[in-house]
Amino acid sequence: MPKHIVRLVLLLVTAGVLAYAGKQFLTVDSFYRFGHYRGNSVADIASDRPKFRTPETCKECHAAKYTEWSKGVHNNPAVGKVVKCEVCHGAAGGRDKNPNSDISSIGTDHPNKLKLDIPSDTVKLCTLCHEQMTGRPKEQKQIVVATHAGDQQCKTCHNVHSPRTFVGALTSTSRPGNAAAGKAISADCAECHGKAGVSDDVNIPSLAGQNETYLADAIKAYKKGARKDALMTGAAKDLSDSAAENLAAYYASLQCKSAQNGEPKLVAKGQVLAQKCVSCHGESGVSPQAMWPSLAGLSKDYLVSSLKSYKAERKNNLMNKIAKDLNDADSAALASFYANASCR
Ligand code: HEC
Ligand code: HEC
Ligand code: HEC
Ligand code: HEC
Ligand code: HEC
Ligand code: HEC
Repeated sequence: MPKHIVRLVLLLVTAGVLAYAGKQFLTVDSFYRFGHYRGNSVADIASDRPKFRTPETCKECHAAKYTEWSKGVHNNPAVGKVVKCEVCHGAAGGRDKNPNSDISSIGTDHPNKLKLDIPSDTVKLCTLCHEQMTGRPKEQKQIVVATHAGDQQCKTCHNVHSPRTFVGALTSTSRPGNAAAGKAISADCAECHGKAGVSDDVNIPSLAGQNETYLADAIKAYKKGARKDALMTGAAKDLSDSAAENLAAYYASLQCKSAQNGEPKLVAKGQVLAQKCVSCHGESGVSPQAMWPSLAGLSKDYLVSSLKSYKAERKNNLMNKIAKDLNDADSAALASFYANASCR
């Protein structure tokens, strides 16, 4: 063999031995055990603190919120739909960099110094998942903000922790009206709406026992021209806001009386259709929300004409959408059901 070939072979063998020795002595034990991780990073990563906790960790300190949330529609593990606390409130675990380690982190977590977000703009938050858009699967419930919420925050109606229940606070807001002062100026109204707020003209709504906030809003709407009616606009035009509040307080305080002028054979059909109305107008037409009207006991004729007016001139984001889908037969059935329902 020529001398230079022998040298070359020796050189290659030496390089091979050195490379093998290097691998044996210089790589850490864990190198092949967990794949190609350098160093003891696996242990490091395992000991690192989680950035996101779970709703369970919130339970001990926020029991009430947790209970609401866990029973709500945002917690449905059976179909894999769970909107966890930290989706809305941000991560509760601290992940500041640890100066002594490349990987593991230190830092404060919630509630130790780390304050979580309380989202104030729920329109922005909730539309992330619920705004209607093409291509979004229809199983994900979607709304058009303009017609569904107008310019209101989602949280004015939805309980954010259990969105399919509606905010109770709306029912209990105390109103500024004074019923006695309202009674004193109600003589003009009695002409059309009846002596004690119970109308005997089927085309004019009874006011007795109606929700106070709704009454006040309605009177103000006529006054501003947002709601128009040949008879009512004139009656409301000169009322001050405080007179409107007082009249609302007075009529809300009176005993309602059910009109009972529905078509008996339409009632059953009406009751079925009324399932669509329950969330806002209550189980049998007594609305749980002070800003929405009760329908139970209003006259059939008035109910039919108001449903018709929502298809045209009477403006309301929620009702315009709903009335559009009702034909005359449906409206008559619904009106009969509500007219014959007990108003208490
Ligand atoms: C060890 C008890 C404890 C745990 C666990 C806990 N919190 Fe809190 N949380 C508190 C306390 C105490 C406050 C009030 C802090 C304050 O007012 O400064 C608070 C406040 C909040 C607030 C209001 C914002 C703020 O910082 O004031 C939110 C939102 C919140 N927590 C969400 C959560 C979520 C989500 C979890 C679960 C990932 C959670 N918390 C876990 C004790 C806890
Ligand atoms: C869909 C989003 C969402 C989810 C999920 C959610 N929250 Fe909230 N949370 C909110 C919003 C929005 C507010 C502010 C409500 C308001 O302004 O009235 C809030 C408020 C809070 C507050 C502050 C309440 C107060 O009045 O000080 C706490 C505490 C809280 N949430 C805890 C939780 C916990 C615990 C969970 C999980 C069990 C959770 N949240 C899940 C949206 C959410
Ligand atoms: C991270 C995405 C996400 C966010 C943010 C979110 N939701 Fe949801 N929401 C869901 C999912 C998933 C469901 C359950 C699946 C379904 O029925 O569409 C749901 C269900 C609902 C439902 C019940 C729909 C039905 O079936 O009748 C309402 C109402 C709702 N959310 C309102 C809200 C409100 C209000 C907010 C803001 C406080 C909000 N959501 C924030 C994802 C989200
Ligand atoms: C004026 C009150 C009100 C406001 C404001 C409001 N909602 Fe609703 N929302 C309702 C009512 C009432 C229902 C139930 C309607 C029904 O069951 O037909 C509902 C139903 C929903 C549903 C379920 C729709 C479906 O097809 O089943 C979603 C999702 C929803 N709202 C999201 C939102 C979001 C997001 C916002 C904020 C941009 C918002 N809502 C603001 C009253 C409101
Ligand atoms: C000349 C007859 C007339 C007089 C006087 C009158 N109203 Fe009316 N009112 C009506 C009619 C008709 C309607 C139904 C209009 C419609 O369909 O929008 C109505 C509707 C209302 C409504 C809305 C009820 C609902 O269920 O939506 C309120 C509230 C109301 N009136 C309050 C008053 C008050 C308070 C007064 C006294 C200041 C008054 N009205 C005087 C005829 C009258
Ligand atoms: C998403 C909530 C919502 C649902 C669902 C709903 N409504 Fe309404 N409804 C309202 C609101 C809000 C008003 C008051 C609007 C206004 O100020 O004109 C109203 C008003 C009415 C009125 C007028 C009452 C009066 O005194 O003038 C009638 C009638 C009515 N709704 C019938 C129905 C029927 C029938 C259904 C079911 C097919 C239904 N609504 C479903 C929210 C709703």
